[in-house]
Amino acid sequence: MNFEDFLRCPICGCNFSRFENSLKCEKGHSFDIASSGYINLLKPGKMNNAKAGDSKEMIKARSNFFLSGAYSNIRNKLCDIIGQYKNDVIIDAGCGEGYYTEGVADKFGVSSVIGFDMSKFGCEHGAKSARRMDKSNVLYSVSSIFEMPVDDGCADIDINLFAPVANEDFLRVLATQGRLIVVSAGTKHLDGLKKILYSDVYDNEEKFPSYDGFELAGVENLKYDATISGYDTIYNLFTMTPYYHRTSLEDKEKLKNVNELNTTIEVNFAIYKKL
Ligand SMILES: C[S@@+](CC[C@H](N)C(=O)[O-])C[C@H]1O[C@@H](n2cnc3c(N)ncnc32)[C@H](O)[C@@H]1O
Ligand SMILES: [Zn+2]
Repeated sequence: MNFEDFLRCPICGCNFSRFENSLKCEKGHSFDIASSGYINLLKPGKMNNAKAGDSKEMIKARSNFFLSGAYSNIRNKLCDIIGQYKNDVIIDAGCGEGYYTEGVADKFGVSSVIGFDMSKFGCEHGAKSARRMDKSNVLYSVSSIFEMPVDDGCADIDINLFAPVANEDFLRVLATQGRLIVVSAGTKHLDGLKKILYSDVYDNEEKFPSYDGFELAGVENLKYDATISGYDTIYNLFTMTPYYHRTSLEDKEKLKNVNELNTTIEVNFAIYKKL
């Protein structure tokens, strides 16, 4: 399947045709594919929202952390879950730099996988990596996940990892019986990191809200111990967490001489079925 079969113009909603390095809709709106391979499908008036996406530094920190392999179990488990369902078209909503998007595209080589993120830097990183790996079944598009530029009911699976949950648009883009997989932190996730930073450490609160039009079909838990080596890798992990924004400078200093971090990694995969 070609991506232009289900992508649609963010301005007028019409479908696209491909002309060399651009997509043009029936009404003549044209969007260029960047030289790295991603496409910016943000509505022109919403370009400033792009600042809401992760910065270049955040994307770089995250991709360097992923090289450690500490989250590869999460990626493998995600693929195991996706493999249980029809998965011809998979959307990664809030894909960041594409670690999970690429893992899924690699595992399901005949599926079409689209990563949407507000961060141009995330999409650029993902597209460059896909090109290096010669993966043509994955496309990255700069877009809001609250208004994804795709046809109603086009996707079999919508994955959403550590990103805002745009449940109304997820419902629209999924086919009936399609699955939404929301991945979030479990109670003990990163307890080792929190023990270094804070004197009082609380468990994370787990929430599996119900969403209109979906049935929560199940929750799968993944929990394991990991050792993360090297100050840079540990600090990169820290910058990926919500704690980075709410930790005082004084507490941040506590990470300074840490070269080895032993921590629990715990995440939940909430699987919602579109009714
Ligand atoms: C914590 S990161 C997670 C990225 C990726 N899923 C991962 O787990 O590595 C959250 C991502 O959501 C993106 N994001 C936040 N709000 C968004 C929105 N309204 N539309 C699209 N992407 C958004 C950010 O740019 C960022 O890349
Ligand atoms: Zn148009």
